[in-house]
Amino acid sequence: MKPNQVQVLSQVFVVGMAAAVATLSAAAQNQPQPPASNGKRPALRNRGPEMPSAPVGNQGYGMPLPGLNRAELAAFEAGLDEFLRAETAESGLGPIFNDVSCVACHSAPAPGGASNRLVTRFGRTANGVFDPLESLGGSLLQLMAINPAVREVVPPQANVVARRQSTPLFGMGLMEAIPDATLRQLAARPKPDGVRGRAAEVEDVATGQRRVGRLGWKAQQATLLAFAGDAYLNEMGITSRLFPHENAPNGNAALLAAYDHVADPEDAVDPATGKSDIDLAADYMRLLAAPPTLNPSPSARQGEVLFQQVGCAVCHVPVIPTGFSPVQALNQKPVWLYSDLLLHDMGTLGDGIAQAAAGPTEMRTAPLWGLRASAPYLHDGRAADVDQAIVAHDGEARAARDRYLRLTPSQRRQLADFLNTL
Ligand code: HEC
Ligand code: HEC
Repeated sequence: MKPNQVQVLSQVFVVGMAAAVATLSAAAQNQPQPPASNGKRPALRNRGPEMPSAPVGNQGYGMPLPGLNRAELAAFEAGLDEFLRAETAESGLGPIFNDVSCVACHSAPAPGGASNRLVTRFGRTANGVFDPLESLGGSLLQLMAINPAVREVVPPQANVVARRQSTPLFGMGLMEAIPDATLRQLAARPKPDGVRGRAAEVEDVATGQRRVGRLGWKAQQATLLAFAGDAYLNEMGITSRLFPHENAPNGNAALLAAYDHVADPEDAVDPATGKSDIDLAADYMRLLAAPPTLNPSPSARQGEVLFQQVGCAVCHVPVIPTGFSPVQALNQKPVWLYSDLLLHDMGTLGDGIAQAAAGPTEMRTAPLWGLRASAPYLHDGRAADVDQAIVAHDGEARAARDRYLRLTPSQRRQLADFLNTL
């Protein structure tokens, strides 16, 4: 999309969306609550306040996909409302959690974006085998709790501790709409420089089907609904039909029973809409536009040539088409994501955690679209700029990295200028 189009769109939507959000949140507060059965909490949860955050449409980020119809726009708006909403202990938050809303970690430069928030994963590696220490609350640490008595710690048994940065969600629906077969073909294609790349074969909890994972640093989920369910449970402690069991604090079931007072699943289907919160959040992410691009300067155009010559595009594949989708805005569209969405052995850059299909040193090729708005970089945020991120590449990316290291300072500048337009 051209920047001038983005500006026009954002002007329209900043106004439109703000009004829509205000109306929707007012409507949500007036929702009737059904009577509680069996002494447990009512099925429709009390809804918390919206989090203050950057304005929707900030610099063209966080917009709905272009060309949505009325019903789709309404679904985007309802989903955004849910994405912004803070959970409370009464609505099912916790007992252990990492934050109270999606936007708390996905906020910059607009709702749906990244943030420099890190979460912690731990486990134990012995004789080359990774154990996520599930019986001790691994591999994801929940740092906060509704009561200090249940707060988790990294157990002393852990000898691997890794941090993971929040990723931006712009364009997630386009990524979801790429067919599994396309990713398997990309994996099978012969590549230079000893680059391999593996499709992350996972089971989708939403459908029970075998799918190609493409979401998360480890390509651990294939669909937005599954990731939403995962995030509601593991980041906020909200159980749902897909993830009906709470995380016990460091694996302690007795502690969980003592502090978990809201009946599961906490995220129930609203009879009025037929949707629960995980569905609303998935709708929002599915309909969220790709990050806006900038017109390339002559220097950036040179950088694009270097990007190809150095071998970056072998993994950071510039464009992949979506398949058929009932949503016109997602149907057979080019996705300029600059990733093959495959797992690569990144050697020393791996995070040491095995998760879903990914081994300890395997990471998903990070999509590079929206890069200029998502610093710092790499899974643990160790790189302040793209130069540092590239220099830290290892494993299958070593040949490309070494060619990058041989570029002149002005060529590196051109490459950075190119990456800044994506
Ligand atoms: C405490 C911070 C935190 C909260 C709260 C949070 N996330 Fe995330 N999110 C992250 C981190 C960190 C990652 C990267 C996780 C990984 O891959 O290990 C992530 C990744 C994602 C991804 C994968 C994006 C990609 O790059 O493929 C999706 C989708 C997502 N989050 C959705 C949500 C939704 C929906 C909510 C609210 C229910 C939510 N998140 C709440 C921190 C958070
Ligand atoms: C073998 C595949 C491969 C090659 C080749 C490769 N990368 Fe990457 N790249 C990755 C993976 C995987 C990650 C995620 C690594 C992590 O954070 O653990 C990544 C991350 C990045 C990031 C950080 C993105 C973010 O959001 O944090 C940048 C920038 C980047 N690559 C640029 C490049 C450039 C420029 C080149 C060429 C010099 C290149 N890469 C070559 C696989 C590759």
